[in-house]
Amino acid sequence: MNCFELLQHEGVAVVPGPARSAEEGRAWLTSLVEGWGSLHGHDAAGRLVWDVRVEPGGQARSQRMDEFSLHTDASFEDPPPRYVGLLVIRRDALGGGQSQWVSCAEVLGRVSARCRADLRKLRWLRVPAEFCKGEERVRGPLLCGQDLMRYRREVLDSDIPEFSAALQGERTSLDLAEGTLLLLDNWRFFHGRTAILDNSRHLLRVRFFGPEVPVIFGDVGQWRRGLSLFEAGEFWEAHEAWEELWQISHKLSCAGLVLRGLIQAAAACLKSRRGEERGVRILAARAARTLRSASCDRWNGVDLSRLCPQLDELRVGQRLWL
Ligand SMILES: [Fe+2]
Repeated sequence: MNCFELLQHEGVAVVPGPARSAEEGRAWLTSLVEGWGSLHGHDAAGRLVWDVRVEPGGQARSQRMDEFSLHTDASFEDPPPRYVGLLVIRRDALGGGQSQWVSCAEVLGRVSARCRADLRKLRWLRVPAEFCKGEERVRGPLLCGQDLMRYRREVLDSDIPEFSAALQGERTSLDLAEGTLLLLDNWRFFHGRTAILDNSRHLLRVRFFGPEVPVIFGDVGQWRRGLSLFEAGEFWEAHEAWEELWQISHKLSCAGLVLRGLIQAAAACLKSRRGEERGVRILAARAARTLRSASCDRWNGVDLSRLCPQLDELRVGQRLWL
């Protein structure tokens, strides 16, 4: 099993390796990840490899010396990067800066059903100024599916006391050797570190997606599955796959609007096949209106500027191709 298979299977992989300089580490990490998936930019400048080290006056939390409590990375992005990699260039010689992690499933097992239901609610998440790429806040759930989570206390408007208490429990805590690469599934694991004692500690961090890039947080392949079903003429099943995603999306975001428009387009195709002329007219017009309100020409491979005129012309007995 290679390190990415292990990462997908276990959600975490500790990969030993030779000590590397920051320069060597940067090049190695970039080519390793790009050989499998795609790197994700850290900030508005799109930095792909981030230096995690103490920076006097640094704005990001990772640049300070105090403890970094358990969290998922970029929880305020939609979708947050699926994976995080941390390569140890220089360990904390004084024994601080230990890497910590725990699975979301384990933490969720410590809270009540009521708390889990609360985590599933849609809520606003603030984007820290230093990572702002245009949107100042995003809306979505903290928990999706069984145990997929995004969480960082600072980006929430209010604390969730039961969940915060559960996060204080047991976790793995390791002083990783130089050259070690820690890979984490950022949707299934929380990570953090103990306070730094030696300010020459230096890690390189990458955030990335695997071969399949989700369209929103919680998408574990439904978007692609919906597309294939639609193209195969399985309009009802396509609608079902996308509906799940739409439920957890911010309804007024581009993703939310496009998903709703495509669900309506699938329903129009279904009516068309059943010969329901009035249904086709109403749903096709509704779908075109929703898709136009998203104000984007293309979205995840779908050419909306071509699809909307097709919807305007859709008649009974015809179908759409995405
Ligand atoms: Fe982090």
